[in-house]
Amino acid sequence: MLTWHYRLWDPHDVVAILVFALFMCRLVGAISIHSPEQSIIRSVQEDVFFSADVSCNGTPTVQWTFMSASVSRAIAAWRPGVFANVTADYDGRVELHDNGSMGLARLTLQDTGYYVLTITDDVGGSKDAGFVLKVNEVLYEDLQYLSVSALALGCLAGFLMLSMWLLNKAYSKIVACRRRKKMPENDETELQPL
Ligand SMILES: *[C@@H]1O[C@H](CO)[C@@H](O)[C@H](O)[C@H]1NC(C)=O
Ligand SMILES: *[C@@H]1O[C@H](CO)[C@@H](O)[C@H](O)[C@H]1NC(C)=O
Repeated sequence: MLTWHYRLWDPHDVVAILVFALFMCRLVGAISIHSPEQSIIRSVQEDVFFSADVSCNGTPTVQWTFMSASVSRAIAAWRPGVFANVTADYDGRVELHDNGSMGLARLTLQDTGYYVLTITDDVGGSKDAGFVLKVNEVLYEDLQYLSVSALALGCLAGFLMLSMWLLNKAYSKIVACRRRKKMPENDETELQPL
């Protein structure tokens, strides 16, 4: 077993692996996918545009697949000028472009997930590109509620502080008054030595 391992990393094998890797790179490099934005955040009911620019030898076959923790489903497959298939679930919501881009309208929370663009060329080579979409709930009402509550709490706190201050003042006045009424001579005689 040890000798087999040793033989695997024989210089000849390393050269062979490198040549094979280079060959694969060239094969894969025949298809290129340029996508400016791969991580997108949108709100419910908004539209998203997965922008891509695809190039390969011959006419590409474009496929879009949706993946999330629980599902994986095909969205659409098309070949510019040849055919275009859209999965029933997405009918009327997707917009396909010759450069491989796809637009998706009226987003729902369930559209959050991973979108894979797969390009297949005439020779059978293929390449993928991934996009992450996060669809957020619209939170305007919550925010309004929160600001109103914050304002109400602020007013309450201010009112409480004012009442405390007034009470404190009134209390010290009463105490002072009482002391003066109870022992006016004592106060004066006591204060004089100081
Ligand atoms: C792909 O084509 C669409 C529609 O013509 C365009 O809006 C988009 O910018 C293109 N994407 C790229 C990456 O060139
Ligand atoms: C497109 O749809 C048609 C009919 O729905 C089907 O026969 C065909 O195989 C589909 N093509 C691809 C590439 O999915």
